[in-house]
Amino acid sequence: MMEDENLVLLYSKEEIAQKITDIANQITKDYQNKEVILVGILKGAFVFLADLMRNLRIPLKIDFVRLSSYGSKSKSSGEIMITKDIDLSIEGKDVVIVEDILDSGLTLSFLIEKLKAKKPKSLRSCVLINKTERQEIKIEADYVAFRLEEGFVVGYGLDFDERYRHLPDIYKII
Ligand code: IMP
Ligand code: MG
Repeated sequence: MMEDENLVLLYSKEEIAQKITDIANQITKDYQNKEVILVGILKGAFVFLADLMRNLRIPLKIDFVRLSSYGSKSKSSGEIMITKDIDLSIEGKDVVIVEDILDSGLTLSFLIEKLKAKKPKSLRSCVLINKTERQEIKIEADYVAFRLEEGFVVGYGLDFDERYRHLPDIYKII
């Protein structure tokens, strides 16, 4: 294979599955008798969202946004744009944003403001990994599977230069 980076296992697929079960139980409890719209951020969150939704026991719909991202670098440019907006109407709906990684906080806070303008009844966020070392904007996700002090991670939907998204476990690049 043409893969140059050194990968070290960080979270196994079993650990990921366990965390997702826990979060899904919490969301199921918090939204009893409500219909939720999950809004996944492409591309990174699609694997997480796929597993999360199959563990939820509430009525739900899913939608996706695509935001301009880091490109092929591993650092944020600071500029964000919506390149694919949601298709469903979220006005008056209970909405949960599903994001892969909360890093600087720029992406999530940008999307929260954009979605708030569409007047949902409620808006929460659910992230797979909350990184803490580079947080610029003080923002707390409502549901967090893993907390990570430092490092760049791949697998389970997460990429480095668009690679490694297909790996079932999550690895740290060293
Ligand atoms: P933020 O705007 O700095 O919070 O950036 C969050 C976005 O950066 C995530 O949606 C990821 O796509 C990307 N990102 C941040 N850290 C990593 C990482 O360790 N691996 C893969 N993608 C990452
Ligand atoms: Mg990315």
